[in-house]
Amino acid sequence: MLILNKAAGVFSKPSRREIFEFLRSFNFRPGNVFLHKLVLGIETSCDDTAAAVVDETGNVLGEAIHSQTEVHLKTGGIVPPVAQQLHRENIQRIVQEALSTSKVSPSELSAIATTVKPGLALSLGVGLSFSLQLVDQLKKPFIPIHHMEAHALTIRLLNKVEFPFLVLLISGGHCLLALVRGVSDFLLLGKSLDIAPGDMLDKVARRLSLIKHPECSTMSGGKAIEHLAKQGNKLHFDFKPPMQRAKNCDFSFTGLQHVIDKIITQKEKEEGIQKGQILSSAAHIAAAVQHTTACHIAKRTHRAILFCKQRDLLSQSNAVLVVSGGVASNLYIRKALEIVTNATQCTLLCPPPKLCTDNGIMIAWNGVERLRAGLGILHNTEGIRYEPKCPLGVDISKEVGEAAIKVPRLKMKI
Ligand code: KG4
Ligand code: ZN
Repeated sequence: MLILNKAAGVFSKPSRREIFEFLRSFNFRPGNVFLHKLVLGIETSCDDTAAAVVDETGNVLGEAIHSQTEVHLKTGGIVPPVAQQLHRENIQRIVQEALSTSKVSPSELSAIATTVKPGLALSLGVGLSFSLQLVDQLKKPFIPIHHMEAHALTIRLLNKVEFPFLVLLISGGHCLLALVRGVSDFLLLGKSLDIAPGDMLDKVARRLSLIKHPECSTMSGGKAIEHLAKQGNKLHFDFKPPMQRAKNCDFSFTGLQHVIDKIITQKEKEEGIQKGQILSSAAHIAAAVQHTTACHIAKRTHRAILFCKQRDLLSQSNAVLVVSGGVASNLYIRKALEIVTNATQCTLLCPPPKLCTDNGIMIAWNGVERLRAGLGILHNTEGIRYEPKCPLGVDISKEVGEAAIKVPRLKMKI
């Protein structure tokens, strides 16, 4: 434990006896022999402090997570210094919990993998400095992880998915379509030109004051919208999907958010209620925004599949679409994507909701993938920095737009 305290910047360098005590606290038995490589993964890029120990074959030996969602719901969004403070308060406990449930002694780890990009600077900094001190004390290799690469590769922990495959990453901070050709070989086909769908859903949920709704008070914005939408009629409001004329794979959500904002203000006037009270039509608005979001995402993804097939970047008959990120846990959006994959003879794969949102397992698994491929394993961490902004792969979105592929209309009967 003292070793971790030191890593958190609390104590000075521990003595040999303290290190021994620390190892003993993990029930380390010399008889424990792990045949596979073991990676400790640490994630602090946004508002979840998470850690996990995963072996080379994808067995999750231990995991722990501390979510800050409840705190940020109260402040109406993530306040970076608050997120930083919460990461600082929890990182040691979470890493310790992941290690102790795994029954793996730190000395048995093959490497430590940590998210270093992209994300909130203050949050990334906590995970990185903690990890670097741990790496230094344990004398283990360090594997810096790209958060979106980790989301994209998570599926390979669960299913036998070969490269290349198409990935759609939809979360609170990101929205992109990419072709995954290898562990760190991505072609970026399109991305959001403004905000991510999760961010938009979070903003709409806040504007609808869903935190005051008895059924949704502890849910993230996106989850609250999905929950409430089940009680609403999506046809009650007719929101047009964004960017209908742009024949590329980019996304946009700000315009839709503003339209919804206007409708809410108008409805508040009609119902004679104050901002902050819950509208009687909140469920209809939730259903309509979810449907429009699903249609927009489905259309851009449909075009990406057609582009990849046209250029022979994906198998004609055996193509795989992987959907991940926090918004991928939305079952309505998944169904819309299923309509697209059925129409294009693709297989749709989504990790379970727990692995779609931020977690330590995906970071540890990305470490395993990199270890196996011999990519980006550092034995010297001098000069390593976190990067709040970092694109994923080679951007070919302009070429995708120039191809101007017309997408056949599909009946979105969800
Ligand atoms: O991947 P994630 O945990 O964090 C990053 O943004 O990287 O995603 C969190 C986002 C939030 O915006 C949240 O509202 C959204 O995912 N989300 C959902 C659902 N569950 C979480 N959006 C739609 N439907 C859901 N069921
Ligand atoms: Zn994420």
